[in-house]
Amino acid sequence: MRGANSVAAMLLLLTFLCAVAAGFPFRMPLDLDVTPRLTVLSSGLQGCRRFGSSAVNYSTMLLEADSERLYVGARGAAFALNASDISASSALTIRWEASAEQKLQCLLKGKDNKTECFNHIRLLQRFNSTHLYMCGTHAFRPLCAYIHEKTFVMSSQPEEGRDKCPYGPMTGYTALIIDQQIYTASQYDFWSYPDIRRNPPSPALKTEDAPTRWLNEADFVGSALVRESLGSSTGDDDKIYFFFTEKSQEQTTTYSHSRVARVARVCKGDRGGHLTLQKRWTSFLKTRLTCSLPEYDFHFNMLRSVFVMHGLTPQDTLFYGIFGLEW
Ligand SMILES: *[C@@H]1O[C@H](CO)[C@@H](O)[C@H](O)[C@H]1NC(C)=O
Ligand SMILES: *[C@@H]1O[C@H](CO)[C@@H](O)[C@H](O)[C@H]1NC(C)=O
Ligand SMILES: *[C@@H]1O[C@H](CO)[C@@H](O)[C@H](O)[C@H]1NC(C)=O
Ligand SMILES: *[C@@H]1O[C@H](CO)[C@@H](O)[C@H](O)[C@H]1NC(C)=O
Repeated sequence: MRGANSVAAMLLLLTFLCAVAAGFPFRMPLDLDVTPRLTVLSSGLQGCRRFGSSAVNYSTMLLEADSERLYVGARGAAFALNASDISASSALTIRWEASAEQKLQCLLKGKDNKTECFNHIRLLQRFNSTHLYMCGTHAFRPLCAYIHEKTFVMSSQPEEGRDKCPYGPMTGYTALIIDQQIYTASQYDFWSYPDIRRNPPSPALKTEDAPTRWLNEADFVGSALVRESLGSSTGDDDKIYFFFTEKSQEQTTTYSHSRVARVARVCKGDRGGHLTLQKRWTSFLKTRLTCSLPEYDFHFNMLRSVFVMHGLTPQDTLFYGIFGLEW
């Protein structure tokens, strides 16, 4: 929780600083309190601890407050660090490189052997009380594996990952493991449309791409679970939110953008339709996210990142987004 709060504070601080640096008279809606919860002066960062290794392209982070562990995924490696002192030499490491044979296959597919033909860890999350789950691009042939948390070693042979993990390191992607069910959103390969899916063995569900396309060249940046069923008197379901930027299908005079920021939502208990929408979400909804300074005609239509701050009740959940300009 401490970590979560300070990240949120940093985001607020950064947003605020950017606005000031750009010289906007930053007028705030009255109901939004943007006072930073925590201010860190640059001098306060001097004693900060760093973790370094020979690995590059750090891509995923999972902080678990209870065990004081910070799990980090990178290119060809995953690390378990002591969150109280990440610099400590006690870091546990899993080396997981793509084989020379696989790298050659990747090169033969026309991929870049300086960036794409490596095993970039794209998913690293808790699976159950004893195991984590990890997926890597594995030089354009995604694989996934369980990790025994205590010892931090792979507990099984890697399994097929192409339905859960993108092929490349830069493809927009988000994943959530909730109650041992794996939800992912991405464009998995070049010849398929991006989708939001719940993976087998749980009843598999997807967004529709024909005849009506629910997503249009979506580029995913994040996802979040909001548990609304706990203590709900109306029998409400848990909701899962997906954040992305996609191609605009609307022709409006106000915005000339080709892309728009969006949030989509599905119900966790969705089982798909019976006659229509078989194996498709029946609860899928999406809407536009706007972040703009209309008086300057600035419309920040590209969503770059999101952070979720859970409140005491589901209604108190706050989503922070980092938006950018298309140009
Ligand atoms: C990975 O890191 C290397 C070295 O820092 C950099 O040149 C490369 O662009 C990075 N690749 C990705 C996919 O971020
Ligand atoms: C983590 O680091 C803290 C501070 O150095 C230390 O007190 C603690 O014992 C370490 N925990 C583990 C599990 O090594
Ligand atoms: C990439 O492939 C080229 C041949 O196409 C080879 O000359 C080069 O050494 C390879 N680079 C790496 C980093 O493997
Ligand atoms: C967690 O999942 C792993 C992989 O399926 C399994 O081997 C392990 O027994 C599970 N642990 C518990 C406590 O169910």
